[in-house]
Amino acid sequence: MPAISASAPAKIILFGEHTVVYGHPAIAAPVHEVEARVTITAQPTRSGPPEIEAPQIGLKTTLDRLQADHPIACAFQLVAEALGLDHWPAFHLRLTSSIPVASGMGSSAATAVALVRALSAFMGHPLSDSEVCALAYRLEQRHHGTPSGIDNTVITFARPIFFVRHQPVEFLTFAKPIHLLIGDTGIKGLTREAVAGVRQRWEQDPIGYGNLFQAIADLTRRAKEALMQGEMEVVGTLMTENHRLLVEMGVSSPELNRLVEAALGAGALGAKLSGGGQGGIMIALVHPQNVHQVGQALREAGAVNVLSTEVPALPPSR
Ligand code: MEV
Repeated sequence: MPAISASAPAKIILFGEHTVVYGHPAIAAPVHEVEARVTITAQPTRSGPPEIEAPQIGLKTTLDRLQADHPIACAFQLVAEALGLDHWPAFHLRLTSSIPVASGMGSSAATAVALVRALSAFMGHPLSDSEVCALAYRLEQRHHGTPSGIDNTVITFARPIFFVRHQPVEFLTFAKPIHLLIGDTGIKGLTREAVAGVRQRWEQDPIGYGNLFQAIADLTRRAKEALMQGEMEVVGTLMTENHRLLVEMGVSSPELNRLVEAALGAGALGAKLSGGGQGGIMIALVHPQNVHQVGQALREAGAVNVLSTEVPALPPSR
């Protein structure tokens, strides 16, 4: 069996996180920078159970020693089922990731996608994107409660998407490339907890939260049109409005709000938290000539890391 490598990008949610869990639309995009990727290599070895190495999480073990519910063990199990395998050959799997964990950038979904791709490719049966996406979703369900499926979908297809749960995914082609800065608060935000918190508050105040959900759904639809028509000022205003509504939903944090304010003060067209919130990252839409200024403002306001990314207008050629 020849050595293989597979990888998956990080993601950002441009509009509609949280409300997407309730069947409302959301817009997400991949992050193509090398600073935000999961990469896996698999190389045959002479004998023994599969060896697994993941330096970022200090893991160096063999498959038989992993707990059955460990995300990597679950990926092996699901891929074995999908391919009808009853045993794994001897090989060494190395997983490296530059996506910060619990930051809203889809580290767990990218790991799931890259693992499913790598394992199936190594066995000589590379799964299609739709199959990879479906298996990665099952992995996300095992470890994250009630995910909407947006993370594994945008990461598998690595294209901007308009996503509505249980509906076919719609790929978006923007009128212009969009330039974003991703500011990391450095504070871990657990999506599962943030999603559970929203559910609890929604159950206590279904009318108030229903109105917030509807307002985000409406602006997400409007944002889709604006992105496809290249109306960047409108996109920015809608991002900031989405942030304000997320603050009302109780999923922001003082650190995220400080970064959003700093980005807007330095001339960003719009800014919002992105992902589960309560820590993690925020994104700012910027004119290319403002990247430096806004990046500086984010660092001064406490961002531990700032990544500049461009979502291209045309889909990448594969
Ligand atoms: C996480 O990237 C986005 C959330 O809406 C959760 C989900 O969709 O599963 C917060």
